[in-house]
Amino acid sequence: MALRRLGPGSALPPWVEILELEVFGQAWGTLEAHEEAWLEEGLGYVLWGLSLDEAELLRIAVDPSHQGQGLGRRLLRESTEALRHQGVQAFHLEVRVSNASARHLYESEGWQALGRRKAYYRDGEDAMRYSLS
Ligand SMILES: CC(C)(COP(=O)(O)OP(=O)(O)OC[C@H]1O[C@@H](n2cnc3c(N)ncnc32)[C@H](O)[C@@H]1OP(=O)(O)O)[C@@H](O)C(=O)NCCC(=O)NCCS
Repeated sequence: MALRRLGPGSALPPWVEILELEVFGQAWGTLEAHEEAWLEEGLGYVLWGLSLDEAELLRIAVDPSHQGQGLGRRLLRESTEALRHQGVQAFHLEVRVSNASARHLYESEGWQALGRRKAYYRDGEDAMRYSLS
């Protein structure tokens, strides 16, 4: 089944908030202008920030009991395809250097590591920057 797209100004559904609190410790809330999300109902979502012909991956998460079954890859692949059709030409993201599963996913989808951002996160961890063009 196709992913459900939510555009700017949309409230993320309550299950997303619960999942975000579980995996990130913090919920995103309502989508701001230039933010879009793609959802697999009740299981996972991906959140993008758009600026002209560029998009930044803000968050992606799959319910822990459904991880490792291909949904993260599908969310990433189908949303980038949809964004390409909307005119996006360059994709960027930052991820914790310790987040091995996410980094494996990005690299296996063709994202290229550009380098580190030192102490990017509040707890002092570095981020790895990736891009896909
Ligand atoms: C990152 C995340 C979205 C991946 O979703 P998923 O549905 O588990 O991923 P998939 O099943 O599609 O797997 C895709 C690839 O991810 C990697 N991967 C997934 N789980 C992994 C694990 N436990 N260890 C190492 N790599 C893993 C593999 O490369 C895998 O490809 P493969 O199946 O060909 O080996 C999921 O782990 C998650 O929600 N993590 C918590 C939130 C998070 O850290 N988000 C990223 C930062 S915003």
